[in-house]
Amino acid sequence: MLEQIQETASFIKAKMHTVPETTVILGSGLGKLVDELTDTYVIDYKEIPNFPVSTVEGHSGRLIFGRLGGKNIMAMQGRFHYYEGYTMKEVTFPVRVMRELGIKTLFVSNAAGGTNPTFEIGDLMIITDHINFFPEHPLRGKNISYGPRFPDMSEAYDRTLIARAKEIAKTHGITVREGVYIGTQGPTYETPAEYRMFARWGADAVGMSTVPEVIVANHCGMKVFGISVITDLGVEGKIVEVNHEDVQRAADAAQPRMTTIMREMIQ
Ligand code: HPA
Repeated sequence: MLEQIQETASFIKAKMHTVPETTVILGSGLGKLVDELTDTYVIDYKEIPNFPVSTVEGHSGRLIFGRLGGKNIMAMQGRFHYYEGYTMKEVTFPVRVMRELGIKTLFVSNAAGGTNPTFEIGDLMIITDHINFFPEHPLRGKNISYGPRFPDMSEAYDRTLIARAKEIAKTHGITVREGVYIGTQGPTYETPAEYRMFARWGADAVGMSTVPEVIVANHCGMKVFGISVITDLGVEGKIVEVNHEDVQRAADAAQPRMTTIMREMIQ
């Protein structure tokens, strides 16, 4: 495993002519940030040795290097979801490669269903914490020496970055919520009973990604900042049929606000 990670990192390093300190993983319908990058260069996932192979034809995904807010960053356009059939090792492989590339901070975004009754569709939620409800733990198996066997998770989402994001949102007049994200395997959206259960467990939003990547980033000693875009509501009385298109549309509408926060944070 470690050998594969190092082989992949060496391949990417040989193609890199900037040194990014931050990586941004862009969630469904949240890829617009990439349009703001300057001096870009791209590596297709399919060129990268050991990188998981995409299950969706024509959408292999790519690493985009460039400058944003005066900083060098690397963006992952396209992530690997557990529901697609990838193993947890595959889902989180890119994060371990980032660690080998010397990346210190991980920004993540996702689309999520709101379980907090005060939330509205289109809200941005700064992720303050998460609940891991995936059926397999990404650190299961032999421990990789990047971190301890039993990693601490008391501050999975960096408090200083959260405070900074709130300041930025205020300055730009952007309303933000804060809350706990619960990660589930999908690919079904939730039944009303499941949404209710997650809310009672203390979750404010539910989605099908992010948690495995954030766990591995913490194990690697990286700082994490995350934003969920609330694309539908799993709140009693407000539950309507959810489909991917509606989720995409709501994510798209929230993108400019999310991009502003991410850009200023990186700066
Ligand atoms: N549930 C799970 N994942 C999601 C949802 C949801 O309601 N909305 C967007 N991703």
